[in-house]
Amino acid sequence: MRNKIVAGNWKMNKTLQEGIELAKGVNDLLKKNAPKCTVILGTPFIHLTEVVKTVDNKLIKVSAENCADKEKGAYTGEVSAAMVKSTGAEYVILGHSERRGYYGETYEILKEKVQLALANGLKVIFCIGESLEEREANKQNAVVKAELEGSVFNLSAAEFANIVIAYEPIWAIGTGKTATSDQAEEIHAYIRSVIADKYGKEVAENTSILYGGSCKASNAKELFAKPDIDGGLIGGASLKPEDFYGIIEAYN
Ligand code: PGA
Repeated sequence: MRNKIVAGNWKMNKTLQEGIELAKGVNDLLKKNAPKCTVILGTPFIHLTEVVKTVDNKLIKVSAENCADKEKGAYTGEVSAAMVKSTGAEYVILGHSERRGYYGETYEILKEKVQLALANGLKVIFCIGESLEEREANKQNAVVKAELEGSVFNLSAAEFANIVIAYEPIWAIGTGKTATSDQAEEIHAYIRSVIADKYGKEVAENTSILYGGSCKASNAKELFAKPDIDGGLIGGASLKPEDFYGIIEAYN
């Protein structure tokens, strides 16, 4: 059985102190009711070390939201995969549409980031997903396939085992407009078939594919009940312990 995952993506929210409070809040709720899925908190770089110290590692894993496409050296302001790993974080989110859209992260850049993350022992939550325009032109399948081929299908099957896919339709992110569970399931099944074509059925069956985009407690259960949806990547609803816990509870 593949891993079920609920991962928060705080984005550029929370001061350090607020972030510690939030992590503590989630940890307290999970201490009372142990989660039936892997729970991950994706935080800004500066929070990583403290959040790792704040949470019980058996209940919560910690993720960065980005890392550099260079190993080390004269890249002022960048944070390397090795630095992320040294905080105790175990995951890194790569390929988020906000990184692709606002910071010009191309397939090639993401390919470098993924390789460096894996080389440094991090697991990668790799985001893919189409824009509204692409969905309206019925190009969503071609878009997600190209994103996989462009940045992660160069990996060996053994490397690919450390990749979690997050399907996030851009039109659903932060808009309150969720993909229907049928719409999401259809493309998740397609993504799994593309992985099967590349790496074989066993690898595809073992790959966790998360849904992201206005996922909240009220729709998580229906989404997560679909056979090819293995959890969620949660933005807005990960910023309050109770809201995030409400989504984790979908697996109870
Ligand atoms: P959202 O964001 O849950 O606020 O829509 C999801 C994401 O961008 O990962």
